[in-house]
Amino acid sequence: MSTFETLFAAASAAREKAHAPYSRFHVGAALLDENGVVHAGCNIENAAYPEGWCAETTAIGHMIMGGGRAIRMAVVVAPRIDFERTPGGQFCTPCGGCRQRLAEFAAADVPVYACDPEGRNALFLMQDLLPAGFSLETDR
Ligand code: THU
Repeated sequence: MSTFETLFAAASAAREKAHAPYSRFHVGAALLDENGVVHAGCNIENAAYPEGWCAETTAIGHMIMGGGRAIRMAVVVAPRIDFERTPGGQFCTPCGGCRQRLAEFAAADVPVYACDPEGRNALFLMQDLLPAGFSLETDR
């Protein structure tokens, strides 16, 4: 399996665990860290809607707790959306908040794949998802 296929499989499995009774929009994400370890997550919604969070955020939490500190590749799996405005639908890209969270651990050239459940995808670089993003130089 290619790295993409491994991450796609992990994100798809994570997606099965989504807790999304309000939007019914199930999302899975998988991250490859600097040690070659894969970390996955699903979206977890809440009856108090703003308290829910995205699949990417769950996956980042798993990466940090698993000892990873750098994202080398990210894969998001979700249904395609917005068929009314876009023929064939649009791939689900990370929300603004998750772009900032991903950028904390992903360099500018890190690939981020936005996939539908069948594996069709759009490839973005981190720098294209969050141009001119806020960051601080630290010695972490
Ligand atoms: N969501 C994600 O988990 N990741 C994304 O990249 C976009 C949106 C979730 C948040 C919410 O639970 C549901 O999808 C609908 O917005």
